[in-house]
Amino acid sequence: VIVQLSDPHIGASWGGITSESRLAGAIASVRGLRDRPDVVLVSGDLAHNATDAEYERVREMVGWLGLPVHVLPGNRDDRAAMRRHFELPGRGPDPIQYSVEIGPMRLVVVDTTVPGERWGELDAARLAWLEQELAYQPEYVTLLAMHHPPIASTSPTWDELAGLRPNDRRALADVLRGHPQVRRIVAGHAHRTMTAELMGRTVLAAPAIFVQTHLAYAAPDAEFVEEPGGYALHALIEGEFTSEVHSFG
Ligand SMILES: [Fe+2]
Repeated sequence: VIVQLSDPHIGASWGGITSESRLAGAIASVRGLRDRPDVVLVSGDLAHNATDAEYERVREMVGWLGLPVHVLPGNRDDRAAMRRHFELPGRGPDPIQYSVEIGPMRLVVVDTTVPGERWGELDAARLAWLEQELAYQPEYVTLLAMHHPPIASTSPTWDELAGLRPNDRRALADVLRGHPQVRRIVAGHAHRTMTAELMGRTVLAAPAIFVQTHLAYAAPDAEFVEEPGGYALHALIEGEFTSEVHSFG
């Protein structure tokens, strides 16, 4: 079981909600689960201002779970700073991409961020890496994780401002065509639970640990709303992932 904590935004506050209290609430909720997860995935926007102090605080707090932790960058993150605080492959400002075996499954992480921008991309080099990585162990049921959901949201304007470029979503779909072992794609970024399919695989955008948003078809941008924080659990059962969303606080 993977517990996915997305968008903690440590260092941020909104309307009296602090990111640290939200992350503490999420951790308490995970600790109260009857089934203990095996690993933690933090799917981006770990730190709101990408300072060393914020990353250190996230690392410390997520460490309270006493589980292996895998992280990936979001648009607010700084790759080099993340590398200083978490054990990650690659160096400096290069995209953070890796895969790990977790029992009978594989977690593959791709980096959809563009430094300094809200929107996301998956360029040819990152997709070539993914293609190679997926070809390497086709027999492992795979969960693919990234920050920007590779699907259209309900808000075309938000997609334009903050989404993964449509051409890159299509290019990712082309890579997935040849790799049926990718059974679930998980993301964050939208601060709203969303699901849609990409090349026949379910994509789940997890809710945020920090504040949620509303997206609307005609709205110029997403708006923060007062709703509980949330996180997702992904359990490998009978060779498929079953995903649950829990809310807390
Ligand atoms: Fe975020």
